[in-house]
Amino acid sequence: MAQPPDTVLKADPAERVAICRALRDVSTVETPYGVYRPATIDDADAFFTLLADPHVSGPLYTIPKPVTRDWVERWIEAHQLEAAQGAGLLMLARDGVNQPTGFVDLQVWSDRASAEFGGGISPDLQSASLGTRGAAALFDWLFQKIDIRLIAMTNALNNVRTEKLLRHLGFVRLTDRVCVAEDGTKRLPMYWALKREDWRSPYCKEETHPGL
Ligand SMILES: CC(C)(COP(=O)(O)OP(=O)(O)OC[C@H]1O[C@@H](n2cnc3c(N)ncnc32)[C@H](O)[C@@H]1OP(=O)(O)O)[C@@H](O)C(=O)NCCC(=O)NCCS
Repeated sequence: MAQPPDTVLKADPAERVAICRALRDVSTVETPYGVYRPATIDDADAFFTLLADPHVSGPLYTIPKPVTRDWVERWIEAHQLEAAQGAGLLMLARDGVNQPTGFVDLQVWSDRASAEFGGGISPDLQSASLGTRGAAALFDWLFQKIDIRLIAMTNALNNVRTEKLLRHLGFVRLTDRVCVAEDGTKRLPMYWALKREDWRSPYCKEETHPGL
């Protein structure tokens, strides 16, 4: 399960309520490889296809190996509950012909104005800069539209692409943290964080953000 970020921010009640409301009201987030929408049970087949591919789910310790269709359904339903409580959001991206192209799994701590972010894109789109551009669009949306002030990320020590992507987008590597994988085993991934006031998107025109 996701642990809250090591950096502790404090959100006042109005900020907490605004973050929860913004999460419940999400409709779409556009990226160069498709449009993200909150996941529904109708997306279960698409998720299963994406996650059954080890090129997508292999590096993600939150996804069981092997993944099953039943687990995917329960995962979507759990996230729908979290979204209603403003505690998380699962989104699926589809391209112009409705093919699934990526997903993002957000955990949100509204009392800390903080979020953790995981996900992946379809294997045929990988290593062509699309993951970096999509992540930038999602970070920009989280900071600007959801009003998150801190994003935390983890990645396996050998996940070079994610490490480069995060460094490129301005994340700061902090002390590695112990994470518990879906099967109960412990991992020691890299741990990264980025505050809103330090966010400078290389792709978006508007690069100034309100400070804390
Ligand atoms: C991680 C992921 C989103 C990255 O997106 P991507 O489109 O594949 O990566 P990009 O093309 O944007 O490249 C990101 C960086 O890795 C580098 N890179 C790309 N392919 C690489 C490869 N095969 N070997 C080494 N570096 C590589 C790029 O040059 C870039 O670095 P730079 O910014 O210093 O130039 C995508 O690979 C993916 O979905 N992987 C499976 C799931 C996963 O690992 N999720 C992340 C865990 S939270």
